[in-house]
Amino acid sequence: MHLTLITRWWFPPKIIFLLNPELKPYQLSDTNKKEEVGTMFNRIAGTYDFLNHFLSGGVDFYWRKKAVKTIKTDQPQHILDMATGTGDLALEINKRYPSAQILGIDLADKMIEIGESKIKRKGLEKNIRFEVGDSENINRSSNVFDVATVAFGVRNYQNLDKGLTELNRVLKPSGQLVVLEFSMPKNPLLSTIYQWYFKNILPQIGRITSKDPAAYDYLFRSVQAFPDGQNFLDILSASGFEKCTCNPLTFGICTIYSGFKKP
Ligand SMILES: C[S@@+](CC[C@H](N)C(=O)[O-])C[C@H]1O[C@@H](n2cnc3c(N)ncnc32)[C@H](O)[C@@H]1O
Repeated sequence: MHLTLITRWWFPPKIIFLLNPELKPYQLSDTNKKEEVGTMFNRIAGTYDFLNHFLSGGVDFYWRKKAVKTIKTDQPQHILDMATGTGDLALEINKRYPSAQILGIDLADKMIEIGESKIKRKGLEKNIRFEVGDSENINRSSNVFDVATVAFGVRNYQNLDKGLTELNRVLKPSGQLVVLEFSMPKNPLLSTIYQWYFKNILPQIGRITSKDPAAYDYLFRSVQAFPDGQNFLDILSASGFEKCTCNPLTFGICTIYSGFKKP
């Protein structure tokens, strides 16, 4: 049985996530997770969008739309999209809030370059800006954003607590955090099919089409190890958020989490 599944019974979710030794993309001995994650996303940046939409059968568009609909804040003006990657969530936010200023931050400059070219093509440079940066050390003052979002990013954080506490710090009081992340379906049959697809099909396609086959092995390991559902809600609460809720999508293979900074 996978180490995470065993330890899940014995330790609080935070400890499980920190204890798991299999979480780095390349498992090199002389680099930390953040360095490896940055390297990996820079390597796969060129094929990221295509593979994302192809491997999910286009459902990822629907997931991001649903995540944006979860935003409850009335007419947010300043929105942070952390781990923005190539900017798909930032673009979706812009569709709903065309007058908001959206800042996308990501570790991987090559992902951001692709995001920037998409924004340029659509003439949205005034509404969406990108910056290379780290979720665990956000280069902004406290209490500045109405809303913060993270799509498929928190699973890759080196220090999940620090990343969430930093997001809490930069949100205004009562500001909302919306997180979209893969999760494990609870139905045993679906869970078996999902794991089989993730373990056997997805890495094969990733191997053929991407420059970095290890990335797609890492995807499966990191989704399995991630403390999803109630475990993540507990982590959100411990990081200073209240009114935390989760909404599983598509048989539970993806989940939207929401929490508010205390007033
Ligand atoms: C799977 S991609 C998601 C991109 C985008 N949000 C989307 O919906 O397609 C994960 C992104 O998280 C970024 N990332 C991981 N750890 C990060 C950190 N500590 N700070 C900022 N970005 C980070 C990676 O560089 C990568 O671009």
